[in-house]
Amino acid sequence: MKESGEKIAVLTAYDAAFARILDEVGMDVVLVGDSLGMVLQGEPDTLKVGMDDMIYHTRLARRGVRRALLVADMPNQSYATPQSALANARRFVAECGAAVVKLEGGREVIDAIRSILSADIAVCGHLGLQPQSIKTYGGYKVQGRDPEGAERILADARLLEDEGVSMLVLECIPSGLAERIAAAVKMPVIGIGAGPGCDGQVLVLHDLLGISPRIPRMAKNYLAAGGSIKDAIAAYVKEVKDGRFPGPEHSFS
Ligand code: KIV
Repeated sequence: MKESGEKIAVLTAYDAAFARILDEVGMDVVLVGDSLGMVLQGEPDTLKVGMDDMIYHTRLARRGVRRALLVADMPNQSYATPQSALANARRFVAECGAAVVKLEGGREVIDAIRSILSADIAVCGHLGLQPQSIKTYGGYKVQGRDPEGAERILADARLLEDEGVSMLVLECIPSGLAERIAAAVKMPVIGIGAGPGCDGQVLVLHDLLGISPRIPRMAKNYLAAGGSIKDAIAAYVKEVKDGRFPGPEHSFS
């Protein structure tokens, strides 16, 4: 899809009912995100989400997915060592049928990534704002605005690709930087708050439906216009494919 220029639509889902709707309307990737800590469990961040939570919800989502690629998020501390990273990634594949596991970080988690890849398990990277490191940023802040930070994210993206990572999420970075990174790597780059220059877009389901306690600026409420939940999710897919989402109001300069 990257090679042919078709934009990739990605959305989170945490159970079979929603995963089925996503699958039916043509979502390319269903992500069982650890954002479930915030939108399902009511926590202020994703830090307390554990492997049992993720395994449970990934299993549920698996039952709704027939066609889309199923990606499971590795929760906080589940890849603290190469050994735990491999053991936990294996659980997502064996117990839940996940096709890809996603983990946050660049060079600092490279041993964990190598360990997972050594078992032929596909990996999605996650750079820019990494919600599991929120305490070190002192809040949800745009990353890569300074030249050093920007170069570090670009270098990490190249490193992940060189190691064999299959796809990359870029969260909350300036649009220009995301565009540079998408052009510099062959793997698909999926943005959230990273502007229209990425190869695809991801949103959190509850933000798209307008039912999160706080809808972040980078998201859009697709249910606000009325219609059904299925129509709202289909409208998101269409706007991503047509390049109409995200607009400048959902991006950072
Ligand atoms: O946990 C999640 O839902 C995510 C997306 C925001 C990319 O990581």
